[in-house]
Amino acid sequence: MFGLNFPNPIGLAAGMDKFAAAVPVWEQLGFGFIELGGVTWHAQPGNPAPRMFRAMADEAIVNRMGFNNPGAEVLAEKLSEWKKLGRWPGHPVGINLGKSKITPLEKAAEDYANSFRALRGLADFFVVNVSSPNTPNLRQLQDKAALDEILAAIQEINVAAPRQSAVGQSAQKATALCRDAATPILVKVAPDLSFEALDEILELVATRNIAGIVATNTTISRPQTNDPAAQRTYSETGGLSGKPLRARSTEIIRHLFRQTNGKLPIIGVGGIFDADDAWEKITAGASLLQIYTGLVYEGPGVTKEIVAGLIQRLEIIGMKHLREAVGSAS
Ligand SMILES: Cc1cc2nc3c(=O)[nH]c(=O)nc-3n(C[C@H](O)[C@H](O)[C@H](O)COP(=O)(O)O)c2cc1C
Repeated sequence: MFGLNFPNPIGLAAGMDKFAAAVPVWEQLGFGFIELGGVTWHAQPGNPAPRMFRAMADEAIVNRMGFNNPGAEVLAEKLSEWKKLGRWPGHPVGINLGKSKITPLEKAAEDYANSFRALRGLADFFVVNVSSPNTPNLRQLQDKAALDEILAAIQEINVAAPRQSAVGQSAQKATALCRDAATPILVKVAPDLSFEALDEILELVATRNIAGIVATNTTISRPQTNDPAAQRTYSETGGLSGKPLRARSTEIIRHLFRQTNGKLPIIGVGGIFDADDAWEKITAGASLLQIYTGLVYEGPGVTKEIVAGLIQRLEIIGMKHLREAVGSAS
């Protein structure tokens, strides 16, 4: 996918390793890729605790962490350290970019671009996160004009350093080569967006060279429940993840796959706990998957279990490669 080689399709979702504290560990747990962060340009403590709550009965989490992170420059140092130590994993590594809380919305593009500049060259792909519910007004940046500005600022840096091979080529060829050399930039969307709003984001795919969509982030909606403990959790402000998010996230993936005729890579995330959930999202149109809440509830064996379950399914159906299954039920 997007010029990278993924040993398996199960990735660690953003938010779990915000400090790049455990970079070599995820590979040992069987992950095929990781998304570090979310990181912001300015270091920030996030919201006061308590800021994460479980709804055990529904296997869900509500969180309002608020991008607690060390800032892009410190994260860059940490990543360089892992590389120097020779502990860099064999799988692709992505970085989730958020907006600093102190940066006003009008300056958002600059904030994202600063982080990208500091971290470029240290990761294989980047995800522009405009869908977290825990930074005031962040999700307004999913608006087409605002997102366009952010992507333009990032892509300007991204193509600024052409590969040597581009030098001396015709202008047209050099542009194409630069684009190919550029680091893939993806966009992460909220499950609360309407299909119309998603379609507007898709209009930026070609012009801003979006490599893929990560669908989805946590939801601000809440399920019905009679369980008093879950009700208490659901009354907390924040984004909901886990089982109750599964169906909506799959619906968004299916819509994105159909709208793009299966041509745009989709990373499916939201409520994946087992191989059945993974299969549902792949056949709806996801080429890669990520988990967070499933890892919390099922434990560290869950990744290998899902990968084994997917391999088994391919064998039973007689498919040679997972890509044959992508979107087959869309
Ligand atoms: C505690 C917590 C922190 C998160 N932090 C981030 C973040 O920094 N950036 C981001 O894009 N998504 C973040 N997420 C969202 C997850 O990456 C994922 O999109 C969402 O939880 C749905 O997947 P799941 O149901 O497997 O958890 C966070 C989720 C949780 C539970």
